Amino acid sequence: MASTTSDQTPSDSTSIDVLSKLQDSALFTDKAYIADEWIKTGKTFAVCEPSSGTTLGRVSDCTLEDFQRAISVASSAQLKFYEQTTATDRGAFLRSWYEHIIANVNDLSIILSLENGKTLAEARGEVIYAANFVSWFAEEATRSYGHTIPSSMPHTTLISVKEPVGVCGIITPWNFPAAMITRKIAPAFAAGCAVVIKPPSETPFTALALSKLAEKAGIFPGILHVLPTKDRSAATELATSPLVNKISFTGSTGVGKMLAKLAAGTLKKVSLELGGNAPFIVFDDADLDLAVEGAMICKFRCSGQTCVCANRIFVQKGVVAAFTRKLKDAVSDLKMGSGLDPATTQGPLVNEAAVTKVLEHIEDAVSKGAKVEYGGKRPSGPGFFCEPTILTSVRSDMNVSQEETFGPLAAVFEFDTEEEVIELSNSTPYGLAGYFFSRDVGRCTRVSRKLQVGMVGINTGKISAAEAPFGGVKESGYGREGSLYGLSEYQVIKSITTGNLDK
Ligand code: SIN
Repeated sequence: MASTTSDQTPSDSTSIDVLSKLQDSALFTDKAYIADEWIKTGKTFAVCEPSSGTTLGRVSDCTLEDFQRAISVASSAQLKFYEQTTATDRGAFLRSWYEHIIANVNDLSIILSLENGKTLAEARGEVIYAANFVSWFAEEATRSYGHTIPSSMPHTTLISVKEPVGVCGIITPWNFPAAMITRKIAPAFAAGCAVVIKPPSETPFTALALSKLAEKAGIFPGILHVLPTKDRSAATELATSPLVNKISFTGSTGVGKMLAKLAAGTLKKVSLELGGNAPFIVFDDADLDLAVEGAMICKFRCSGQTCVCANRIFVQKGVVAAFTRKLKDAVSDLKMGSGLDPATTQGPLVNEAAVTKVLEHIEDAVSKGAKVEYGGKRPSGPGFFCEPTILTSVRSDMNVSQEETFGPLAAVFEFDTEEEVIELSNSTPYGLAGYFFSRDVGRCTRVSRKLQVGMVGINTGKISAAEAPFGGVKESGYGREGSLYGLSEYQVIKSITTGNLDK
C-alpha cells in the first residue's frame, strides 16, 4: 500500500524549472490523490516535456493495491455523498470548482502545455473548455428530472427517478489532459457518483492540479481519487472490480473493445469515445477561404492529435488546385516550436511513436504515388516535432486513408460526385466526426443525413463545446459526453410504483 512521505515536488528531479513559472507552485505535484490524502508512492515514473524530450518531472506510480484501496473508499463514500447532498449542493460544489479553475487558468495552461506540448494559447483554450464542462454540469445537476407516468393499474402512482450509477472508473487520454477529465467527472459528481481516475501516464500533472483545485473547492470526502500509474493491470481492475459500476474511457478503439469485454463480466455501464477517421469534404460550391479556415482548425489543432481531426480531406476535382494553394499558404504560416514560446503556433507531438506514425503514413503514401505539397520531414534538433505536411493525389489504398494518423498530415483526396464522396467517407469502420463545406442548402441537408458519424460540422471545423453532444457511432464507440445527454451516462433510472395510498 502507498504511504505518505516527504513534501518533495517534481522540480527536484526535473531539468525544467516548472515551479518558477507558476503563481501557485502547489498545483504542480508528484503525489497521487487517494482517500483525501496526497500520497507519494515508493515508485515513480518520468513524464516527458515533448518539445525538448527531457524529463519534466517524476510522478507517483500507483500500484494495483492503491487502486483497490481507492475503489473501496470510493464505494463507501459514494453512498454517503448521494444521501447527504442535494443536487443543489452538488451544483454549488461544481460552481466553486469552476471558479477555482478559471482563477488558475494561467498556471493550469503552463502545466498542460509543458506536459502535452500544445501551444500556450491552445492550452488556455483547453482549460476554459474543461472549465465549461464543470459549469455546464453545475447547472445540469439541478435539472435531473424524472417522470410521473400514468399507471394502467387502479389506485397506483408510478414515477421514475434518476439515481447515480455508483463508482465510476475514469480512463483518459493525453491529448486533452484537462477537458477529457472534466467532461467525465463533472457529470459524475452532478449525478452523485464517486470517481477513480487513471490519468494518462504522459500527462498526469494537469489531472493532479485539477484535483488540488477540487479539494480547495470543497470536494465531498472520498469521492475523488487520482492515481497516475504505468501499471496496465490498473485499467483491468477498474473494468472488472465488482465495486465499480461504470467505466468511461476515451482512447483507442482497440483498448476500448478490450475494456468493454472486461466490463461485460460484471455488466458495468460503459461509455466509449474512441478513434475516428474523419472525412472533411470540400464541394466545388464551397467558400474556399472558409473551408481552409475550417481545415486549419480541425486538422492542425493539438498538432493533429485529436479524435475529431480531419483525417481524409476530400476535395471536388474542379477546386483541388485552388483549395490546395490556399491551404499551402495557411500551413506555411505555422511556426513550430515549444508550446510555451508565444511565437509558436504548432507544438510538438506527444512522443517518438507519434512522430514515427506520421512519417510512416507519409512514406507509405508517397511510395504509392502521393505528392508532398508541403513539409513531409522531421526537422533536425531535439523534441518530437514533425513538419505540418500536405499530401495531394492521396488514394484509398494508402494507410492514411484506412487509419487515423493523429498528427499534422493533411491528406488531400480528389473526388467527382456527391454519391462517390459519401461512399468514400463512410467506407471506414469508424464514425466519430465528419465535416463538409458547401453553399447548397439541399446538399447540406442530404450530406449531413448520409454521413455515418456521431458529429457533423457544416461549413465549420469547430464542433466541440460543453453544450454539444460528443460521441461516435460504429467503432468510434457509444455514449454521449457533454450536452443535455451527458448526465444520464452517470445515472440509472428507478421506477417507483405506489399502490393503494388513496384507499
Ligand atoms: C478528443 O480528441 O478525444 C476530444 C476532442 C474534443 O473534445 O474536441
